[in-house]
Amino acid sequence: MTHPGPIVELSGVRLARGGRTVLDGIDLSVPRGQVVAVLGPSGSGKSTLLAALTGELEPAAGSVRLFGQPMPTRARELLELRKRIGVMLQGNGLLTDLTAAENVALPLRAHTRLPVELIERLVRLKLHAVGLRAAADAFPRELSGGMARRVALARALALDPPLMIYDEPLTGLDPIASGVVMELVRRLNDTLGLTSIVVTHHVHETLPVADHAIVIANGSIVFSGTPAELQATADPLVRQFLDGEPDGPIPFDAVARNAEAA
Ligand SMILES: Nc1ncnc2c1ncn2[C@@H]1O[C@H](COP(=O)(O)OP(=O)(O)OP(=O)(O)O)[C@@H](O)[C@H]1O
Ligand SMILES: [Mg+2]
Repeated sequence: MTHPGPIVELSGVRLARGGRTVLDGIDLSVPRGQVVAVLGPSGSGKSTLLAALTGELEPAAGSVRLFGQPMPTRARELLELRKRIGVMLQGNGLLTDLTAAENVALPLRAHTRLPVELIERLVRLKLHAVGLRAAADAFPRELSGGMARRVALARALALDPPLMIYDEPLTGLDPIASGVVMELVRRLNDTLGLTSIVVTHHVHETLPVADHAIVIANGSIVFSGTPAELQATADPLVRQFLDGEPDGPIPFDAVARNAEAA
């Protein structure tokens, strides 16, 4: 099921949580093959935006289209669509009493009827893709933070989804492990022909591998352009976020949460 248009298309989207508007007037178009960075301070609505992409949160207004199709409303179609989206959420979400290989096998066991030997082969391929074939039998507690993150990445890739969504893939990782994970995100995107959306406040680790960046703050998209355009922007709101200044157009509340999350 291929189509020529954008993989993700949001138009005039408003998203509310608990009766309060979090984001409004969101227009976003993500062409096939791109890695898009979604940046913004803590509490600005990045995870909320992702929830709209996975169909978990229905927009209060506007339209969300994935793979050229409107977001399905029927549970069954939504389930089918979700198999085509690889999601790596904040934290690893690895099951601690399963090995790396068993964790990667979970989506294959749940969503396919493939024979055991084939699943084992696919799992080895996915672990190889993230450079961890040797760690197949290790338990998550035996892995470094960066390795565990890569296992989570392999698991998100298990069903060969054409769209990958990452929510803060770098939280808790040192700069070197962060670089490894982001390089991997880019390489997998290109070698597997994916489209990737990476939510993060790790601007400096993420921009080098992104094709496009958006910044959300104060309830809407305040910047959309290339990483180079972002670095060069003079917009005070965006600069405050990029330069990490405590005083500026982003309210103190958002900064306080940011410090909490760091
Ligand atoms: N389930 C929920 N019910 C009510 N309000 C929510 C819910 N989830 C998020 N919010 C609110 O929506 C706003 C945006 O939250 P969101 O989690 O999308 O921010 P974020 O940009 O992902 O932040 P972070 O960088 O800390 O992950 C916040 O004000 C938050 O309190
Ligand atoms: Mg979040």
